Amino acid sequence: MCGIFGMIGANAVANTLQALKYLEYRGYDSAGIAAKQADGIRIYKSEGRIHNLEKLLKNSVENNADSSFSGTSGAGYVESEIAIGHTRWATHGAVTTANAHPFYSPDGNFAVVHNGIIENYLALKKQFTSRGAVFTSETDSETVAYLLQNNYNGNTLQAVCATAKSLVGAFAIAVTTTYDNSLYAIKNKSPLVIGVSDVGVYLCSDIRCVSHWATKVAVTPDNTVVVVGKEGVRFYDFEGKPITVRFFTTDAAEEMEQVDGDFMLKEIFEIPEKIRLTQEGYFKNGGFGVEPERVRNISRIYLIGCGTAYNSGLQIAAVARKFLDVDVLPVIASEFIYDNYPVDGNTLAFFISQSGETADTIRAAENFNSLGGYSYAVTNTKASSLCFACKKVAYIYAGGEFAVASTKAYNCQLVTLLLLTLDVGRIRGTVSNEQYASVLRALTGIPSVIEEVLSHSYEISRIAETVKDSSAVFYIGRTTDYPTACEGSLKLKEISYIHSEAYPAGELKHGTLALMEENVTVVAITDGTLSDKMASSINEVATRGAKVISVSPQTFPNALSVTLPKVNTLLYGIVSVVPLQLLAYYVAKRLGRDVDKPRNLAKSVTVE
Ligand code: G6P
Repeated sequence: MCGIFGMIGANAVANTLQALKYLEYRGYDSAGIAAKQADGIRIYKSEGRIHNLEKLLKNSVENNADSSFSGTSGAGYVESEIAIGHTRWATHGAVTTANAHPFYSPDGNFAVVHNGIIENYLALKKQFTSRGAVFTSETDSETVAYLLQNNYNGNTLQAVCATAKSLVGAFAIAVTTTYDNSLYAIKNKSPLVIGVSDVGVYLCSDIRCVSHWATKVAVTPDNTVVVVGKEGVRFYDFEGKPITVRFFTTDAAEEMEQVDGDFMLKEIFEIPEKIRLTQEGYFKNGGFGVEPERVRNISRIYLIGCGTAYNSGLQIAAVARKFLDVDVLPVIASEFIYDNYPVDGNTLAFFISQSGETADTIRAAENFNSLGGYSYAVTNTKASSLCFACKKVAYIYAGGEFAVASTKAYNCQLVTLLLLTLDVGRIRGTVSNEQYASVLRALTGIPSVIEEVLSHSYEISRIAETVKDSSAVFYIGRTTDYPTACEGSLKLKEISYIHSEAYPAGELKHGTLALMEENVTVVAITDGTLSDKMASSINEVATRGAKVISVSPQTFPNALSVTLPKVNTLLYGIVSVVPLQLLAYYVAKRLGRDVDKPRNLAKSVTVE
């Protein structure tokens, strides 16, 4: 949900452009760069993907439109030693070049980029428009540039601190100015990582991205102003008082890889390997750190997340209810924040987030902590904001996930959460050593089972042809198969744009059967345990004209079958979701969708 990057050092524009390509998963409505030159700040911005911005930068040099620039890079566009950049997921204002970041202050002495939401922007805007100012965009972010100019009185740090104090909301803001050669940043509730290396200093929304260049990184705390200069990095509170923030070396660097095909398909095919890594991580570290004294007296466990991460909580709650003696409740993070779920010292919650930056999940963890609960982050991203918001962290081993629709992270979340809840069960005596050993043995075999499923991907691709023209697709399942239905449905709708919903199979007859007709597809998922009941549900929808696809170790007379190997029912969801991920992918491809960057979405949603 918007990515920002800033750099001081050689080839700052080329590096910023490269960083924006990496950060594009955070939003791809528009992109822009501000490059500081001897005679002022130049802004380049364009609607759409980063390659439009790249073209714009190249054209501006080729057309000699910017002969005043001090130089061009080997890459063929303008260069600078100071640059900031932005990739946008639109919140305030349409997807237009005018609403793309960066924004100038009216006098051109500041340029800003922003990730987050300035909640009091209308009041701020009014202050300026009442004095005759005319804003160039509909965004909340442009007000920051106006504030900076207004607050500047010969001291940039003071202007930045004064600006920070007048903002309400979530923001990671980078500022470049003509007044000096530092970059400035303001941080509250949106992620901001500072990096240093021998050749440059950097600021960025994403630790993996900045670790590509930086050898040491610092995660900026909330309510902080940062001054990044050639001579180093300084941190201040909003009053301008220096504060200390620790730098650490990082191994979070991720290859900024390019793939020939789609990231989503590549990431689905990585699932077996990543599950193996997750299990290895569990064994190598002697578990994921469940503390006996913490879980012996618990009475309740929440599994909290958004989107796919929520679905993994939904799945493991259903699984863990089979072997735990405490309430296990999945909750959507944005609901948890504003509802009255009971929390006390005996409540444990797993906060699940691939990115570790989802605002709803972080706010939910903060609320939960303030009520005295014990919070545990389950995330794919080291040193992400969620890690700091929770008391304990379990990392999943999915590796960088770039397709907006999450796939391999889901499977790894399931494995991690299963191992965590099994450990809780062992400590509480509800899971015996034999049961534990038997599940672990079965889990070790899961990667090969998934490899087998993947080897039949062409069959799913053929089925996709029959699904692609559906007017709606319903996914149904019972108990532990219902969360899989939810995840399959989410995948399909987010990347194919076909209307899709998931239902507990038994619930269909209480209303949704009214929607069954030709052109509707129903995907029925069952591990085989309640197959008679599923057979009835399949008949009920098929007799009303719906086409049925079953995903099960067994076949059904009225359905096109995706036949899966039989596995331990606690683990079935880790396997049965894979054909659904593939189905969503192939349907979307057949409809000509951009599967890695679907419309209206972003991979990391850093606003509430
Ligand atoms: C966004 C993404 C989803 C993701 C959800 C939670 O909505 O588009 O794919 O599942 O956020 O993300 P998280 O990083 O917290 O797992």
